[in-house]
Amino acid sequence: MHVSIFGTGYVGLVTGTCLAEVGHQVVCVDIDAAKVDGLNHGVIPIYEPGLEPMVKANHASGRLRFTTDAADAIAFGDVVFIAVGTPPDEDGSADLQYVLAVARTIGKHMTRPLVVVDKSTVPVGTADKVAAAISEELAKRDVELRFDVVSNPEFLKEGAAVEDCMRPDRIVIGSPSDSAIAVMKKLYAPFNRNHDRMVTMDVRSAELTKYAANAMLATKISFMNEMANIAERVGADIEHVRKGIGSDPRIGWHFIYPGAGYGGSCFPKDVQALAKTAAQYRYESLLLNAVEAVNERQKGHLFELMERHYGGAAALRGKTIALWGLAFKPNTDDMREASSRRLLEQLWEAGAKVRAYDPEAREEAQRIFGDRDDLMLCDLRADTLAGGVDALVVITEWKQFRSPDFDMLAERLHDRVIFDGRNLYDPEEVEANGLAYWGIGRGRSVRVA
Ligand code: UDX
Repeated sequence: MHVSIFGTGYVGLVTGTCLAEVGHQVVCVDIDAAKVDGLNHGVIPIYEPGLEPMVKANHASGRLRFTTDAADAIAFGDVVFIAVGTPPDEDGSADLQYVLAVARTIGKHMTRPLVVVDKSTVPVGTADKVAAAISEELAKRDVELRFDVVSNPEFLKEGAAVEDCMRPDRIVIGSPSDSAIAVMKKLYAPFNRNHDRMVTMDVRSAELTKYAANAMLATKISFMNEMANIAERVGADIEHVRKGIGSDPRIGWHFIYPGAGYGGSCFPKDVQALAKTAAQYRYESLLLNAVEAVNERQKGHLFELMERHYGGAAALRGKTIALWGLAFKPNTDDMREASSRRLLEQLWEAGAKVRAYDPEAREEAQRIFGDRDDLMLCDLRADTLAGGVDALVVITEWKQFRSPDFDMLAERLHDRVIFDGRNLYDPEEVEANGLAYWGIGRGRSVRVA
């Protein structure tokens, strides 16, 4: 089939590449000429395991191309995906200007019947707005053409996006039109081999499904962070509690890891946007507001532990802190809404300097923070400790941070203390090496009577 995809961001690029990989002819459109030019020359704008070779191979085979020419792309596709960004507005609701601009472009240029697919995460009701925008442009041209707007939300995880796209656990299609659903079934048939993963429904349910999935996952995390904060106070260890509850299949092992708060491009934005949608329908979502509030507080928790250790923020003035991790999670260079950003701001505010290392996010951090005297971005983990620093904070659970040489750390850390924002270490092992240990929700060293 012929597929056009508007937006070569995370979702558009991965989706387009995977559709080409299974044999479709795909053209990806973006208004950013430099990005398009880069992609046509094998420069991949994001880091995602497995993506680069797949883009290059499909581009070389001619199944995947990149253009800035919207009219050409609309003439090419039987199916046109909208996969542009929906950044949060100032009030937290999703900003639809890019989605609706693409819809108008489709209406301006379409010359035959089309299936238009909303792939971006968009508030309930957006498909109707997209349809209205296309119709308006067709009316201006005095043209009558059939089109269907389908909601097909994305469930990709950063760091595993190619894998998730090639082996989806479900494919959600929302449309009232049997013919549009048939087109989508044909498009996704190569991903739907051994058992049927296709879940079809009405458009609004499909739109809400995406938000419900992310809100549920964010709720699990905030719930565990809340339990961790209680565990700290009562002198329990949340890691034991986690193991004690995860074996119940109704709870499950996934997404019950306490930590420094969730970040990324989805959870913070989507939880707020869904709460906003509810408010627009005059419903106050007490739970979603709490999920968000717990996460906001949790992002400041590591700094709070540091304050407790040092007896106040003032004692951090002039300290040098080694920070392991900058990305919002491992296997990505993405720092959107990352907890590291809050911690850095707090440390700088307190007058501390930071030597930070992240296996992928160095350039992103450089772009965000620029050159500053109180931040040194290191090329190697070992460099964060070079010459000795006062304390170590671990904020992203990259595999390479999991088993450090504690003997060496005891030598290099002047204040002999580790703040473990992802509970990677065994407190007893750390303490046996003569280091103080602070984790998330681990009451043994944090007990407040
Ligand atoms: C998420 C959803 O998982 C994905 O299905 C959706 O399409 C987009 O949003 P992503 O943002 O890539 O994907 O990251 P994810 O792996 O879900 O992690 C989100 C955040 O939650 C990270 O900051 C992570 O560190 C944190 N997290 C995750 C926890 O703090 N505890 C956990 O148990 C799990």
